[in-house]
Amino acid sequence: MADCCVQYFLLLFLLGASHWTLTQNLHCEVGRNLHLEDDPGRTFNWTSKVERCDPNELCQETILLIKAEGTKTAVLASKGCAAQDMESMTFIQYTPPPGLIVVSYSNYCNDTLCNNRDSISQFWKPPETIATSRMSGALRCPTCVALGPCSSAPSLPCPSNTTQCYQGRLELSGGGMDSVVVHVKGCTPMIGCRLMATMTSVGPMTVKETCSYSSFLQPRKAESRASWRLTPLWLLELLPPALLLPLSHFA
Ligand SMILES: *[C@@H]1O[C@H](CO)[C@@H](O)[C@H](O)[C@H]1NC(C)=O
Ligand SMILES: *[C@@H]1O[C@H](CO)[C@@H](O)[C@H](O)[C@H]1NC(C)=O
Ligand SMILES: *[C@@H]1O[C@H](CO)[C@@H](O)[C@H](O)[C@H]1NC(C)=O
Repeated sequence: MADCCVQYFLLLFLLGASHWTLTQNLHCEVGRNLHLEDDPGRTFNWTSKVERCDPNELCQETILLIKAEGTKTAVLASKGCAAQDMESMTFIQYTPPPGLIVVSYSNYCNDTLCNNRDSISQFWKPPETIATSRMSGALRCPTCVALGPCSSAPSLPCPSNTTQCYQGRLELSGGGMDSVVVHVKGCTPMIGCRLMATMTSVGPMTVKETCSYSSFLQPRKAESRASWRLTPLWLLELLPPALLLPLSHFA
């Protein structure tokens, strides 16, 4: 009698275990992309290979995009399995235009191949390069976005409403991005070493920002705070509200 029940429970346990194994057999797209692109919203194809995850992992897809006025866009993209407790989708604009632009998109999801976004056109539409006539003329900054050190950083005229020359580097690790360094120089209204709005991670990547900056106008604090919080219309139009985090949280 006791024997029969033990076996019965053992069978149930084994059935449960094999069911558990099957449902945990999550497959995700996996890949790493590091590019400088002219128009990634149109040309970047984020399709990747496939890997099988360990239990307790989810699929993730994360992209960090960095551009200065007149430069190409640095695209830093990671897909794969990642240890994570919760599904989530975030879009963060760390530095809004004019001048430097830094945004990220990150998605953790729990269905096979759910990290299958292939285009970034929905959330990457930076304003057209500003015509020279709208440059304020007096202000110029060394300008470059490079994977590694800048080989050159021409002094370019700044767009209106920018007040600072930013010069810094971002060092990434995790999410397949170990030892990736991006150098960034350009005009911005943003004050200080805050290209990443002092945040230290993007999806599975950690980001360390180091920089020096020089102000070439007396910082006018009220005005600079206002432009810091400006959310350009091109983002608001393109994203469902759930994707937009309140920017003031990061200001
Ligand atoms: C992911 O899905 C599996 C199978 O449906 C479930 O057991 C697990 O708890 C889910 N994980 C998360 C973090 O939602
Ligand atoms: C990306 O490439 C894949 C495979 O080559 C293709 O199926 C897909 O349509 C492409 N997506 C875009 C947005 O071009
Ligand atoms: C500069 O900022 C002012 C005030 O915020 C705004 O009215 C103006 O349109 C901006 N100029 C440009 C070129 O963006």
